[in-house]
Amino acid sequence: MTHKVALKALKKENLATPPVWMMRQAGRYLPEYRALRKEESHFLSFCLNAQKASEVTLQPLKRFDFDVAILFADILTIPHALKRKVEFKKGEGPVLELIQSSDEIKHMQDHVSNIPQTLSPVFETIKQTIPHLNNKTALFGFCGGPWTVASYMMDNHPSKDTLSFRKLAYNNPSHFKELLNVIVESSVLYLSEQIKAGADAIQIFDSWAGSVPHDLFDIAIKKPLFAICQKIKALHPHTPIILFPRGLQTKQYQKLVDESEGVFEGLSLDFQTDLAWACKNLQNKVCLQGNLDPAILLTTPKEVVKQTTKMLQIATEKPGYICNLGHGITPTTPIENVQAFVDTVKNWKK
Ligand code: CP3
Repeated sequence: MTHKVALKALKKENLATPPVWMMRQAGRYLPEYRALRKEESHFLSFCLNAQKASEVTLQPLKRFDFDVAILFADILTIPHALKRKVEFKKGEGPVLELIQSSDEIKHMQDHVSNIPQTLSPVFETIKQTIPHLNNKTALFGFCGGPWTVASYMMDNHPSKDTLSFRKLAYNNPSHFKELLNVIVESSVLYLSEQIKAGADAIQIFDSWAGSVPHDLFDIAIKKPLFAICQKIKALHPHTPIILFPRGLQTKQYQKLVDESEGVFEGLSLDFQTDLAWACKNLQNKVCLQGNLDPAILLTTPKEVVKQTTKMLQIATEKPGYICNLGHGITPTTPIENVQAFVDTVKNWKK
């Protein structure tokens, strides 16, 4: 029997108080993160420094009573391991060397099997972190969704547009599938090593899922995500998986859940989604997570308490809920508002 509250919620156990954590909880809103970050100019080198990454993973847990430690790394470690050039430019975010020809997709295949070696610092981060966690705190590993990771390899600013990637889908469907497939295979190896190193559960961040045209939803989102889940389930049947396909329409969430056949346990909801609708229609089948608007954490402790309470009232009526934001916390968030968020959850009893 586990003492880890987040794992209990994923099993839909009846809990008086739901577990809580925040996406991007290890990040720039923390002065101690900014201080450590200064020591390394390249963000990926920072992620691949196990000692520093482990320290950063633990930083938010020293301040707040979170029930989950999220591994400190990035979804773009996979393109890096596949020997694509990945840079993080100040004020601009990630900039990758874009894929120009199908040969480049073929070359990437040659690097897939090396992932357990090339990304070994990430697995080392997990090993170094676990001894510092108490028996109630779960460690979550993660990777990006294939659509999202590939969109960074195809377009300069996929948060704004995924035009080249969508063009490839129509122009050359077999290369499009091949690219998604390389990322599926890489992600399976990557997640499997994270689990072997000790990750208790896995979250797949498909941040730009909402940019997929309706007709491509099955091949670009559903199939690749389900393929990762099925392969991980075959290797690690007891490790729960949470999907975060951001920006989907309600019909698409419904479809993912209805057709899941138990390949994933949790669904993280963005802040655009109607939580009451999700609880009514999805919570019987999966554990829900989210969906507080990170903008609320930019207001006042009073407003945070009010909005978090409103969310808890809706989400804790049935079992299967993990309290979180609907997207990552933003860098200018005041610490006292994070404290108000966590305190509200910890004081909550349904
Ligand atoms: O605390 C955590 O959640 C764990 C670590 C984590 C990071 N990135 C650290 C990070 C996780 C889970 C991610 C996931 C990630 N990375 C996603 C999916 C989640 C989402 O936000 O939609 C995406 C799309 C990325 C790609 C990425 N990495 C972007 C777009 C950026 C730039 C953001 C910006 O505003 O500059 C990053 C960099 C990044 N990843 C930072 C952190 C803490 C900030 C960079 C820095 O400290 O210099």
